[in-house]
Amino acid sequence: MVEGVRRVAVIGAGTMGAGIAQVAATAGWWTVLSDVRPEALPAARETIAAQLAGAVDRDKLTPELRDATLERLTTADTVAEACTGVDLVIEAVVEDLEVKRAVMAAAAPVVAPGAILASNTSSLSLAAIAEGLPHPELCLGLHFFNPVHIMKLVEIVVHDGVEQETRRKAIAIVEAMGKEPIVVNDSPGFASSRLGIALGMEAIRMVEEGVASPDDIDKAMELGYKHPMGPLKLTDLVGLDVRLKIAEYLHATLGGDHFQPPQLLRDMVAEGKLGKKSGHGFYDWA
Ligand code: NAI
Repeated sequence: MVEGVRRVAVIGAGTMGAGIAQVAATAGWWTVLSDVRPEALPAARETIAAQLAGAVDRDKLTPELRDATLERLTTADTVAEACTGVDLVIEAVVEDLEVKRAVMAAAAPVVAPGAILASNTSSLSLAAIAEGLPHPELCLGLHFFNPVHIMKLVEIVVHDGVEQETRRKAIAIVEAMGKEPIVVNDSPGFASSRLGIALGMEAIRMVEEGVASPDDIDKAMELGYKHPMGPLKLTDLVGLDVRLKIAEYLHATLGGDHFQPPQLLRDMVAEGKLGKKSGHGFYDWA
């Protein structure tokens, strides 16, 4: 366990929030999950219960730890209720600066003294998220990967104001969750999204130009470069809408044609082809 961390709030119970709440509760922390959509909470709990049951079936988790994890997991209706007295907040709401800032502003006055306010943003500036908070030095990025309970990496994103002690605590928190931390400065797209989006956008441009089929483009990276998953399948898993937003942000902040979202991506998002979550993307998931 990490000194000074007993209770955790996870705000946003979508794809990432549910996974983050699962690993926090499994690590032994009392974990409260909250979402503006009340229906997201039972759905997230169901997903978590199913994933824990799968881990028990595969002998990765004991039934006792599964039960204890579910017991440590509660829900709350509002950000303030969820964050009261907690030592760590991890927000995983939509990738929108104003929404994230509003969540942090609601959490800051009610958390325990010294609590870390973390954002799971894939690309937004941590300095911008921290701006205006009573303790910006305690706000940093904890960028998890999808699916959270499987992916080992967490990027710890630090803006200039983050203190050494907060950085050290964040590393300990990530390790207590059984993850591998890397520390990255607050630069658009950090390390992972900046490289991943450049590759993803180029792969989509290649589909658009008819260079090869999505399956063959993915195989080029999987078999030729030993990537565990090709960039188009990964885009389907992450969500085309999520990747479009990140690409738009990187193009606006860093410039460069390689971040420019291809028209094909815009068209697919407009048609509701969002990848696995909608049943259709570069692959058929229905
Ligand atoms: P999602 O759309 O599945 O979930 C977002 C949730 O936040 C929704 O349930 C929504 O109702 C809730 N929400 C929106 N505004 C809220 C508010 N003001 N208060 C409380 N809840 C609110 O999105 P997803 O994919 O889980 O992404 C969440 C964050 O994680 C984004 O910042 C995204 O960029 C980041 N991320 C996403 C990854 C992915 O693979 N999907 C990977 C790593 C980071």
